Amino acid sequence: MQSLARTLPHVLLTPSGLLPGKRGITRKIQSLLSTVLSRKMSSPASKDQAESQNFPFLLDDHTVGAFKESKTLILLRGLPGSGKSHLAKEILDKYGDVARVISADKHDIKPAVKSVISDEYNQLDKTLIGNFNKKGVNVIVLDDTHHDKERLETIFDIADDHKFTVVIVEPKTQWRRDCNQLKDKSHWKLSLEELKGMKAPFDTDVLPLYFGWFLTTSSADVLKKMRHNFLEHLGSLKAFRKRAKPSFIHDENHRGKVDLISYFGQKPNILHCTTKYCNHGTAPGSKEYAQNDAVKKGYGKAFTLSISALFVTPEVAGARVDLDDQQLLLWPADAEKEVVPTENLPKGSRAHITLGCAKDVKDVQTGIELLKIVQLQIKGEKGEEMGELCGGELRYFNNDMWVLFLPRKVEVKAIFCGFYGKSKSSLESGKKDSALLSCTIV
Ligand code: A2P
Repeated sequence: MQSLARTLPHVLLTPSGLLPGKRGITRKIQSLLSTVLSRKMSSPASKDQAESQNFPFLLDDHTVGAFKESKTLILLRGLPGSGKSHLAKEILDKYGDVARVISADKHDIKPAVKSVISDEYNQLDKTLIGNFNKKGVNVIVLDDTHHDKERLETIFDIADDHKFTVVIVEPKTQWRRDCNQLKDKSHWKLSLEELKGMKAPFDTDVLPLYFGWFLTTSSADVLKKMRHNFLEHLGSLKAFRKRAKPSFIHDENHRGKVDLISYFGQKPNILHCTTKYCNHGTAPGSKEYAQNDAVKKGYGKAFTLSISALFVTPEVAGARVDLDDQQLLLWPADAEKEVVPTENLPKGSRAHITLGCAKDVKDVQTGIELLKIVQLQIKGEKGEEMGELCGGELRYFNNDMWVLFLPRKVEVKAIFCGFYGKSKSSLESGKKDSALLSCTIV
């Protein structure tokens, strides 16, 4: 089993097992695309412009399209005079009506080493929330130094409450950390000491709870519809109802349809495919991951993810994601080993989107459940044929795992960035840590 997995580094999950992907063709298309894209991305008007504007959300059409159909807070971060307001203007020019810029300067907030909660900040937060709630405003640019940890946490919580994805952006100007130059660039006339006092937080990255691909609003709507149809039809299926006791239903007298939509009532705020769980920098390997070249380059960029199957177990409902070669560059080398330390499972085989969890089950369980299915497939198990459902092929694997293999892959657009808010587990238990809950595979 191990040797099979080793010889199949890139595999597709299909009803008949694991098949090698069409790597040759995919690679050729990807290399052609990356040549076209890199040409496109390397032809700005001047070198200075290239320095300050070299962001996918300004240069890459696919990313611009994805931002326009998502809800994103671009959080500009940097010392006074580092070029944030210039960048804010560039973004506004690019996105027009769907964008709004909210600036601390315009709210008369003078940058200070410790951001105190003032009337001005309260007013700024009101403006921010007003814009979060405005229909048609999809890109909000928040222009402030954002050096203060507590202030950042406040913003992350507000963004999470309004289901906005956060992308943190620091201008790439050459002088952004040079206090001597910055002193003369900011209109606030800050002293060298004041600037130096604010500089330290910019030496370390703000690390998220987790990195991942966050589905655009329109792609999330497509997947939510698929989730709804799948759970509705599966719950009504005679074969499912027959086997639903006792794993999905504990009431002996229950008859008829199983309400899987309520059963998987715990849903993620924004549908996403986690790449690396960082726990704000305390999870092993998170700092190294954030420093990875592919992660830095991919941050804030849109990708197209392919979904090949939907699955349900008594614990979770999820979507299997097939990563391509570019996406695998963002996949941590130990993601599968973290769950199944004893096996060499194909890289990327844990990639998934959590669609819902049963009561008291944590989202992280979805990847663990998916790897149970992958392991059975590697062993040669094909599952019992259960007929057609929602146009796909339904199969039943032991331990009450139901997999719907889609007739063709469903593509969804997603932005690679981080989730910076609080962990659901920490909100529930008051703790910050979220360890893997179960590493036991059948
Ligand atoms: P997933 O991507 O499977 O949905 P929480 O708020 O529960 O702490 O977790 C936040 C997100 O991080 C969830 O979406 C979850 O899983 C993912 N996650 C949580 N813990 C881990 C972990 N130890 N390893 C990988 N991903 C994790």
